[in-house]
Amino acid sequence: MHEISAELWNSAVRVLDVNWAGDHMVPSRKLYPHQWSWDAAFIAIGLAYVNPTRAWRDLRSLFEAQWPDGRVPHIVFDPATAEADYFPGPAFWEVPAYGNRAARGSTGIVQPPMHAIAAWDVYRHAAAHGANAALEARTELEWLYPRLVAQQRYLTTDRNLGRGGLASIVHPWESGLDNSPSWDEAMANVPADLTLLARYRRRDLDVSDAAHRPTDMDYSRYVGLVLTYRAGGYADDGLIDRHAFAVECPAFNSILASAELALAQIAGVLGLTAEASAHRDRAHQITTAIIKRLWNPATGMFHALDVRTGKLTPARCVSGLLPLMLPDLPAEMVESVMAEMRSPRFGLPVPSYDRTAPDFDTMRYWRGPLWINVNWLIRRGLLVHGFRDEAEDLRAGMIRLVHRNGHFEYFHPVTGEGLGAPTFSWTAALSLDLLADRSVPAYAKAG
Ligand code: GLC
Repeated sequence: MHEISAELWNSAVRVLDVNWAGDHMVPSRKLYPHQWSWDAAFIAIGLAYVNPTRAWRDLRSLFEAQWPDGRVPHIVFDPATAEADYFPGPAFWEVPAYGNRAARGSTGIVQPPMHAIAAWDVYRHAAAHGANAALEARTELEWLYPRLVAQQRYLTTDRNLGRGGLASIVHPWESGLDNSPSWDEAMANVPADLTLLARYRRRDLDVSDAAHRPTDMDYSRYVGLVLTYRAGGYADDGLIDRHAFAVECPAFNSILASAELALAQIAGVLGLTAEASAHRDRAHQITTAIIKRLWNPATGMFHALDVRTGKLTPARCVSGLLPLMLPDLPAEMVESVMAEMRSPRFGLPVPSYDRTAPDFDTMRYWRGPLWINVNWLIRRGLLVHGFRDEAEDLRAGMIRLVHRNGHFEYFHPVTGEGLGAPTFSWTAALSLDLLADRSVPAYAKAG
């Protein structure tokens, strides 16, 4: 194991060196040549071990592009990358320019708010790098805190489209699980206009295998949804009446609640006692809403809720296991989610979708393959509820997978073969974190 560790550690560090673009990290040089929101958070968690200054820089670059309403864009564009090298690029989004975004440009949609969790992790590791790093960490945390609070405010207020205390995503890309079967029902109600793809050419297929990627039909709907959100200036007021897609995702909302718990820790360090307790209350409220709105007793797991129809989507996806991250999840739900996870439908490491589903697809992105970031979140959930053996098995399983196959974007759920981009930043970054093995999150349940 020792050799494996050294090799994996060094190769991960190399990936993160190659993908560093001066003031931010790209997820992958060819396929994703800009900065992505939740990628930056996972990346910072790993960078904290080798270069905390870069971890903070990456988070700062992202939050410098935050909108006045608090939303943190899902992509911040790098002006050094040509428009033709990525679709949909800055010209397509037509986001009004101001502040730092005048120079960099961004999209108008969001991704799961992993950043408070990352900021707290990076902060906790900084002390190991000496007094200067600790000082830097304190300054960066102070800078980030109000911005993280504004991000949460935006999601819990403006995006509370279903009025039940959860954030809705208004585009599948906002989930980070782009083409997950969780959105199939809701997406079927979104008009698909294939002529859009004649006007806006996909660029992903030039640099990756079409069999792995979302279909043209999916893609035309993705483009159409951006066009309608864009037409309203990305305003959320009354959006539910004019937008064809609004869904409450269990993974997104579990991250939202966990972010409140991380903010409680951060507020505590900054001496903001009243705020810390307000963050804990909000985490509890979001947890309660997840339980009330997204639990399906018939499947014994969580499902996405289509806010427009009021129906839970039937697909069993990895997102429905992620409420395991929540410390306040009732014991019977924890047991039920664990049973589902241990069943032939999933197993550790968990695939992105139910292995026994007729449309389980071993190649196609979020419709089957294994991803390191969601498994990392699952491991966190296992630790929160004291499943230490399984957490350790999962850690070893992920390390083995990446060591054998490389720092790929995702992995074949049966053979483990690496798929997608070969030098993918979050896979490398989270490998560092797994190797460093801090197994007990500070907010884990006592006992
Ligand atoms: C894909 C993934 C998303 C990720 C992005 C950049 O769109 O689905 O989760 O953030 O690529 O890596």
